[in-house]
Amino acid sequence: GRGNYRHFMEKELHEHPVVIGDVLSRMIDPSSRSVALWDLPFDLATLPRATISACGSAFYAGLVGRVWLETIARLPTDADVASEFRYRAPPLPSEGLGLLVSQSGETADTLAALRYMQDEGQHVLSVVNVPESSMARESDAVLETLAGPEIGVASTKAFTAQLTVLACFALAAGRARGTLDAAREAVLTQALMEVPGQAAEILSEETTAAIARVAERIAEARDVLYLGRGSCFPVALEGALKLKEISYIHAEGYAAGEMKHGPIALIDKHVPVVAIAPSGPLFEKTASNLQEAAARGGQVVVFSDAAGAEKLCGIAAETVVLPTCDPFVAPILHTIAVQMLAYKVALLKGTDVDQPRNLAKSVTVE
Ligand code: F6R
Repeated sequence: GRGNYRHFMEKELHEHPVVIGDVLSRMIDPSSRSVALWDLPFDLATLPRATISACGSAFYAGLVGRVWLETIARLPTDADVASEFRYRAPPLPSEGLGLLVSQSGETADTLAALRYMQDEGQHVLSVVNVPESSMARESDAVLETLAGPEIGVASTKAFTAQLTVLACFALAAGRARGTLDAAREAVLTQALMEVPGQAAEILSEETTAAIARVAERIAEARDVLYLGRGSCFPVALEGALKLKEISYIHAEGYAAGEMKHGPIALIDKHVPVVAIAPSGPLFEKTASNLQEAAARGGQVVVFSDAAGAEKLCGIAAETVVLPTCDPFVAPILHTIAVQMLAYKVALLKGTDVDQPRNLAKSVTVE
């Protein structure tokens, strides 16, 4: 049951810390601060390329995974939605890695992408939440998210579990490929081990109250833009998708640098711009995009850490301060915040949060 929570989605949002902690306890050795290397039926060191395919939120998790695999493991990586990927007939390098991401393990297009990858001679690895699913059965190797059953139709805890698994996988790949030294691995595993506690801070009354205040502004809007860069660009996509799904407000996620190539035309005082803007190497770039949005009257809503929030206080209409963290784990923490925002907006709208109209939990027809 959903216990004292109003919706399964709320309950599942509050499971983030435990679910992420469970993944970490299976994948990280805390004493050596290194990832546990599993017995995989292929060699991470010699992979020529990885190809990621998935649908919906799972695809966005894959997009974050791509950034991590490229930056940490220097592994060339492609990612595409499964419904496009399977019909593009993309040529794949022999002995490459095919990586599927799915909560249910039954999504028709993702399963078809898996079979295509197999036909193309890829080693197939899937990140799935249901261990007995079709994808798990048909893959050469499985990294289980084990987030427990997800009842809310909109994915929450399964998504952050996918991110956590992909983060550990990228570290393992970096180690195997010699692009991640032990000292850096210790820093990044330490950053991951702090995530459950930081996730709990985001779910605290203080931070959820700040998010609920932002929700009042968003609930009034007809259109909302979400902006992010790097590993937080997919978080902008996730925030926008979740808002669409459960509050029925039109939202778009954009790479912050793309704003001036078109969507800036939409911005006026009625359009909130939600910025996923953690401190880090890309912060200043995002900040200048936000300045442009504010200059056109956009209501800028900033999600950042204390240092970032301070720098943006001149232009932000609202700010939600999240825990300070290594930029590596920022997409995980920011995801929790934008999912919570969508939930709070849906509450104000009075929609059917757990069973949004027209949506099915598992899409087994293409
Ligand atoms: C979004 C959502 C969907 C799923 C997508 C893939 O909140 O739940 O976009 O992520 O249908 O489903 P799985 O992960 O089961 O393949």
